[in-house]
Amino acid sequence: LDDLLADGVADRTVLVRADLNVPLDGSTITDDGRIRASQPTLNALAGAGAKVVVMAHLGRPKGAPEDRYSLAPVADRLGELLGRPVAFATDLVGESARSTVAGLSGGSVALLENVRFDPRETAKDEAARGELAAELVDLVSGGEGAAFVSDGFGVVHRKQASVYEVARLLPHYAGSLVSAETEVLRRLTGEPERPYVVILGGSKVSDKLGVITALLPQVDALLIGGGMAYTFLAAQGHGVGDSLLQADQIDTTRGLLEKYGDKIVLPSDLVIADDFAPDAATEIVDAAGIPDGWQGLDIGPNTREAFGRVIAQARTIFWNGPVGVFEMKAFSAGTLAVAQAIAASDAFSVVGGGDSAAAVRTLGVEESGFSHISTGGGASLEFLEGAELPGIAVLED
Ligand code: 3PG
Repeated sequence: LDDLLADGVADRTVLVRADLNVPLDGSTITDDGRIRASQPTLNALAGAGAKVVVMAHLGRPKGAPEDRYSLAPVADRLGELLGRPVAFATDLVGESARSTVAGLSGGSVALLENVRFDPRETAKDEAARGELAAELVDLVSGGEGAAFVSDGFGVVHRKQASVYEVARLLPHYAGSLVSAETEVLRRLTGEPERPYVVILGGSKVSDKLGVITALLPQVDALLIGGGMAYTFLAAQGHGVGDSLLQADQIDTTRGLLEKYGDKIVLPSDLVIADDFAPDAATEIVDAAGIPDGWQGLDIGPNTREAFGRVIAQARTIFWNGPVGVFEMKAFSAGTLAVAQAIAASDAFSVVGGGDSAAAVRTLGVEESGFSHISTGGGASLEFLEGAELPGIAVLED
């Protein structure tokens, strides 16, 4: 971004891919962290006199407009945060987008409707993605010197038209969020200060197997909570009642326990419930003792303490995924304890993943207690896994 600003952007049209994929309750934004994270780049460009055209997605619509996935509420919040009006185009490359972009003057910002309302954005067919990218470029190329800034770190692992193909058609730059996020995550993949402790939660082992396998040789301890812990407990031979279980992953998980058992820390006790509901009956049991008809929904008090002790020793910490169903108060104590233990530590600490970042904010833990809260969920995991991220590779090309 500094290179682009140094060249001068006054009155140039700059197309920015941001990640504004925020949680919504109806049209109310329940966590605006990603919108706030997009501000530095957008302010820098608008402040330097660029005509800023922002592309973003919301949710996973099936390639056609759906009201509940409209970015209209996001445009309003973005305008409030930027302190400048944000013109909202009700389509992506159609009449509204063309007139909105034509109406921009230097220093103003427009947001295009959800890029995923166009099936070509996420198409497997490269030609289809290329066609949409060409239309997006055409939209901003009326003015001389159009440029592309990639600032949606949360989507750099997606080979999609607005992330990848557009970058191949315009002079391209990394936005300040993409630069900052990659710099932080490189500290973890480089030579992290030890002990290096990783806490992983979330529901599915299969989603995290890649990162678990890549991280285990590197870390000193891997603490596992959340829904995926039950597949590990089952691999140890424990009954897990009605808890989340990926039976097809038990063998792989057992292999990881055999190879890295000394590094993997599993829950020793659990909060179980007789229903997946905020007012379910609950009990605290040993991790080996979940009765039939009950399900584990949070780590128990002994595990909270044990995780806390390991976290307190760490010099580098990465956390992805809540360790319980934190959205329900009865099952939020584990995630809160993990967040508080990390916040109390003076280690270099990174929180990755929309859910863990939202947990930090909604459970009221001071954000300043963390060295970095990543906006990327899948993106930060794939980065740590060592995978090539298309949205980064295309910028380096
Ligand atoms: C995210 O929520 O992790 C990013 O916005 C990417 O969204 P996606 O997983 O739907 O591509």
